[in-house]
Amino acid sequence: MKVQNICCIGAGYVGGPTMAVIAKKCPDIKVTVVDINEARIAAWNDENVENIPVYEPGLPQVVAEARGRNLFFSTDVDKAIDEAQMIFISVNTPTKTYGEGKGQAADLKWIELCARQIARVAKEKKIVVEKSTLPVRTASALKDILEHTGNGINFQILSNPEFLAEGTAVEDLMAPDRVLIGGDQSEEGLSAINSLVEVYARWVPRERILTTNVWSSELSKLTANAFLAQRVSSINSLSELCEHTEADVNEVSRAIGTDSRIGPKFLKASVGFGGSCFQKDILNLVYISRSYGLDEVADYWEQVIIMNDHQKKRFAKKIIKNLYNTVSGKKIAFLGWAFKKDTNDTRESAAIYVADHLLNEQSKVSVFDPKVTEQQIYSDLDYLGSRSSEENKESLTVVKDPYKVCNGAHAIAVLTEWDEFKTYDWQKIYDNMLKPAHVFDGRNIMDKKALQNIGFQVHSIGSADDN
Ligand code: NAD
Ligand code: UDX
Repeated sequence: MKVQNICCIGAGYVGGPTMAVIAKKCPDIKVTVVDINEARIAAWNDENVENIPVYEPGLPQVVAEARGRNLFFSTDVDKAIDEAQMIFISVNTPTKTYGEGKGQAADLKWIELCARQIARVAKEKKIVVEKSTLPVRTASALKDILEHTGNGINFQILSNPEFLAEGTAVEDLMAPDRVLIGGDQSEEGLSAINSLVEVYARWVPRERILTTNVWSSELSKLTANAFLAQRVSSINSLSELCEHTEADVNEVSRAIGTDSRIGPKFLKASVGFGGSCFQKDILNLVYISRSYGLDEVADYWEQVIIMNDHQKKRFAKKIIKNLYNTVSGKKIAFLGWAFKKDTNDTRESAAIYVADHLLNEQSKVSVFDPKVTEQQIYSDLDYLGSRSSEENKESLTVVKDPYKVCNGAHAIAVLTEWDEFKTYDWQKIYDNMLKPAHVFDGRNIMDKKALQNIGFQVHSIGSADDN
């Protein structure tokens, strides 16, 4: 089947950019992205394309080109399902916060709602594509729902996990390392796989489009994230050893990364990984492994999360220790709140946990991030439930100016690796701080020597303090 009409349910960080790129590359395919969140759809449709709800370099240009031509954003989910031959499900699949599997399993209630809606509305055969990251074997649950509650039509289910990273979503989508498509190995399944291959083949070289059975595809997504996160936890674990031995973790990363069997990527020591995917997907892997009785497998991967939690806590403790073991009433300025640079996403950002730890010690935290809103910062903190919303507002302030945020601070903590932090006038910042003025560089982006020459006490991740 040649696909001419695509619908995507979920206009988030994945659905929006992914569909915008498909629409750009396939001008003859009508792509409709739907969501139940009216404000989000309104923002995608905002006349000023800079106001779209996802901040990603290059995305406004892609949206501007395709929107209104063959790319549409709408809240009319039923209509879009009805018209489409291929339906991508790209809704959120966060960690469960209640009941069986709480804190580990993926919450699939939004996926199930989508399946039931598709089943109710669809009157002709459809290809349903899992774009969300799902536990292995979810496709069989989807099939069950579609077949038992639908109108007796044929559904093919494909797994097409998304590997884009936030901050580089557009380049990742334009030139992916690979596209993975899993499907049923029957004649109809293979034909459905082929329909999707033909969409991607418009711009992705065929040898980069991998096809597998549906279970391998589902599990490969969890595995890819687990491997990437494991590298970060591995180097972070060694960063602590470096701080005790005068080895420098940046040098160690370089030394091991030049071994072609290891490779240089994802070896940057940090305050800890964040983002909506790594922790959620590993917890899910742990949960699935345990549910099959594979305790050693589960314990192995769980350690990646344990190490990451330790790294975030360790960073907060380091700040406290260096401020004479008390931060009570002391102002600590945060540069960055997003979980990485070039995104406005804050989900699971290390900054949230470091702030929480410092606030428990009665510190006064003030935050500057170039792209994250004040409302988002408070909502992240309130979500933890450590203190009331009023208390959070009293102890943490959000400042829109990077210089003002540092005024009168005892210390600056760099939580996100935004490029602009490197080029600030650090002498000016130093002059307006309390002394001794500390910089805790949670991303190892600052020029340590230059800051020390100004007079700062600089504390990096994974190298001994030499102030
Ligand atoms: P998101 O929260 O940004 O977006 C999900 C959207 O789905 C929301 O806008 C929500 O309103 C909408 N939605 C939920 N239920 C709906 C329903 N029944 N009908 C219509 N809309 C509905 O999430 P995201 O970051 O885009 O992630 C989506 C999926 O992609 C997740 O499974 C995630 O694990 C996976 N993923 C995310 C990334 C990433 O970098 N964010 C990368 C790869 C894969
Ligand atoms: C990740 C995967 O990379 C992507 O393929 C998947 O589709 C979604 O999850 P994302 O979470 O957007 O993408 O960003 P990523 O670049 O992987 O970074 C995740 C976290 O790890 C960030 O907090 C980042 O700062 C941190 N990180 C990454 C490090 O601390 N060190 C590194 O060397 C790399």
